[in-house]
Amino acid sequence: MKKYPLLQRAYHFTEFKESGKQLIDQLTEYLCKQQLADTKANNWQTPDKELDFWENYQFSDLNNFVADLFDHSIHLHNPKYMGHQVSVPAPLSVLTNLISGLLNNGMAVYEMGKAATAIEKCVVDLFCEKIGYDNKANGILTSGGTLANLTALLAARQALHDSDIWQDGCREKLAVLVSSQAHYSIDRAARVMGLGNGGVVLVPVDTGFAMDQQALETCYSKTTQAGLKVIAIVGSACSTATGVYDNLQFIGDFCRRNSVWFHVDGAHGGAAVFSDKYKRLLKGIEMADSVIIDTHKMMMTPALSTVVLFKDKKQGSQTFHQKAQYLFEDANLDEQWFNSGLRTFECTKLMMCLKFYVLWKTYGIKVFEENIDCLYGLGKTFAEMVSQHSSFELALKPQTNIVCFRYIKQEMSEQQINELNKSIRQSLLEDSEFYIVQAVLNDMIYLRVTLMNPLTNEIHLQQLLEKIISVV
Ligand SMILES: Cc1ncc(COP(=O)(O)O)c(C=O)c1O
Repeated sequence: MKKYPLLQRAYHFTEFKESGKQLIDQLTEYLCKQQLADTKANNWQTPDKELDFWENYQFSDLNNFVADLFDHSIHLHNPKYMGHQVSVPAPLSVLTNLISGLLNNGMAVYEMGKAATAIEKCVVDLFCEKIGYDNKANGILTSGGTLANLTALLAARQALHDSDIWQDGCREKLAVLVSSQAHYSIDRAARVMGLGNGGVVLVPVDTGFAMDQQALETCYSKTTQAGLKVIAIVGSACSTATGVYDNLQFIGDFCRRNSVWFHVDGAHGGAAVFSDKYKRLLKGIEMADSVIIDTHKMMMTPALSTVVLFKDKKQGSQTFHQKAQYLFEDANLDEQWFNSGLRTFECTKLMMCLKFYVLWKTYGIKVFEENIDCLYGLGKTFAEMVSQHSSFELALKPQTNIVCFRYIKQEMSEQQINELNKSIRQSLLEDSEFYIVQAVLNDMIYLRVTLMNPLTNEIHLQQLLEKIISVV
């Protein structure tokens, strides 16, 4: 090793220990600072200036780098962060990222990730039970909702009775039906699968932004009459822009009647199966052939970690037929639950189950219920505050922690109101005290908050409304 002094230094644990101890103090201080009243959720910078900073950055050591990184990052732990649907990670869960980074057990085959493979099964079994699946079900964890939706839709396609697309390629015109409010990852997955424009049928929504039930019937008939085979109907639970749940019971019954695969995109709101108060929103989910739930949205873990569940483990196991002889001996797909590479896109897979498992075992399963109840409750509180204010208008009564609203002035046209709300959002972004986003619904621009931080309270919500008024 003497021949390689840099390698010798890189693999010695002295620096790790010193920087690591300091790092935990730094991270803890950072968390405390986020609670102070005068801190900002963001520190907005244009892309060019940000690039300029890092291109000219003088790196001294890890701890100084971390301090600068903090200054240049968005702060999800700040209660004024109310933007995209990314969880505010519970600190203990964050530590598991360090552990899995160090162990780096790539989980394609059991022998490379024994513990994580077994722990992952415990996590998956818990989710299956919560969904209401029986012991025929199984699942896997994968890196994010987008990949999870693709994985589920590939299983749906493979489950078509009269073809083996993996072997023979696709000879028919296929389609997926999904609400026009669904997350774009469904559209993307369908296009990756070669379904093209005609293969992504967007079912219009009703006035409450859920999939319109009559329209589903009509779209399905038109699609099949046009000669396309519907491989799946996707229910959003909930949809991204508005946080509205599709009626899963209705879609499930419809799929059953028509023998079509029923997929539920529960990336955000599937976690409500853990809440006695809100699981009613997911009524019918147990009928789904596949379900995905991100733990890095409403389940307090850092990204990425998504649970993909299959009602029938046989169908979940058939998707990736391809054999990698050097990895899997005599793959009996049903039985080899322990070789996750057989059932995921990923080969080297992170030990992502640790993030959820540690929270579950440390705080108990009720912690996830508290998180849902708290955040969905905050959504309701904020909506009430908005509706009591004459200068604001709600897009809809929220079902979740996602609230769309806009600033209005009676004398203004719709176009002027749109421009005003767009400029409010830009001003807030540049001001950086709060971080919120926007959504376009029925051609109207709304301000959109997703209340992801359980430490956000009514005072912060009131301050947000005052801030908006101050920038108008
Ligand atoms: C309903 C829904 N599905 C899928 C996704 C994609 O998930 P991910 O960001 O984990 O890829 C999102 C992300 O916001 C979502 O809201």
